[in-house]
Amino acid sequence: MFQSLTAPPADPILNVMTLYRQDTRREKVDLGLGVYKDPQGNTPVMRAVKAAEARLVATQETKSYTTLSGDPAYRAAMAGLVLGDAVPAARIAGSASTGGTAGVRLGMDLIHLANPGATIWISAPTWPNHYALAKAAGLNFRTYRYYDAEIGGLDRAGMWADLAAAQPGDVILLHGCCHNPTGADLTAGDWAQVARFCADKGVMPFIDIAYQGFGDGLDADAAGVRGLAAVSERMIVVASTSKNFGLYRERAGCCLVICREAEQPAVQGTLELLNRQSISFPPDHGARVVTTILIDPALRADWEAELTEMRDRMNRLRAALAKALRDACGSDRFGYLADQRGMFSLLGGSDAQIARLREEFGVYVVGGGRLNMAGLSDESVPRVARAIATVL
Ligand code: LMR
Repeated sequence: MFQSLTAPPADPILNVMTLYRQDTRREKVDLGLGVYKDPQGNTPVMRAVKAAEARLVATQETKSYTTLSGDPAYRAAMAGLVLGDAVPAARIAGSASTGGTAGVRLGMDLIHLANPGATIWISAPTWPNHYALAKAAGLNFRTYRYYDAEIGGLDRAGMWADLAAAQPGDVILLHGCCHNPTGADLTAGDWAQVARFCADKGVMPFIDIAYQGFGDGLDADAAGVRGLAAVSERMIVVASTSKNFGLYRERAGCCLVICREAEQPAVQGTLELLNRQSISFPPDHGARVVTTILIDPALRADWEAELTEMRDRMNRLRAALAKALRDACGSDRFGYLADQRGMFSLLGGSDAQIARLREEFGVYVVGGGRLNMAGLSDESVPRVARAIATVL
């Protein structure tokens, strides 16, 4: 039976985590895996999460099953967080998911069931797992150009030239904000163009929003998604709470499907059927913590305050690294870092250069040069800048 299997290659992002953990040097700097870190290098449990968990321990009376799509209050709270009031509740089907990853998979499984011939268009580059998830869901996928490394911004000409080949019934996958790995986001004008393109072509938008609140603020980061949702007949939005609630290991995500009101019961039922065939019931603990925070004004205010501190810290470190690189290189070639948003930016670099950063300087970034701003500290910025200037 299993003799036909070969060990798969290591995941390109998770492998950096493994290599970092094996390194015994004190000066090593982890800019790989996308987790937030405080100035001490820890990934803390957020204050509001601690308080909500304590409240749940004190008051929760059962751990019995919820529903096949999770707690309806969680779905409603997440729809409010991500979509605001852009879409009436009667047009939203959805399910809690095992992190954002399984939410993306659920959305893709739904597409495959509804239209097995659909092609999903995925940006190049993207979070590499997007391609793997599309493949696992049995979907055809094609890539569209997205990033122009020369300018550190969007390759609009390439993107629209590639997407011109999309067919009615296809799907376009977009990052809601804080594009992973480039940090280059769509502007309001780009979002409007996406809306026109989807309407004209009969293409459905699929938004993965994993970093809401890490760019410019909770509402600002969701503005593009909300604008598109308000004018789209059908759309899938997957949100993760791993980063903005720091709930990484609790796996609390959500897949929201916007559709016609008359379609909602069938879509809702199909999501639940898909869950039944894989996990039965979505995990509840992280989701319930999120709901507790979002519906309690005091907890929510404290969560938003801490999220603001985290965002400000990442944006400050971005600016500091861009400045240190300007000093170290004597040029503005990394100036684009300061303009990008979210946890990541892309430095470029060959595999050999990325290995040299790691081996010679103890600076860990993902292949292609993706670096996590939150892994920097005031103390490490000058060292990291010197290493980058030397190697790249
Ligand atoms: C990342 O991109 O580093 C994170 O989203 C972690 C992951 O699952 O890849």
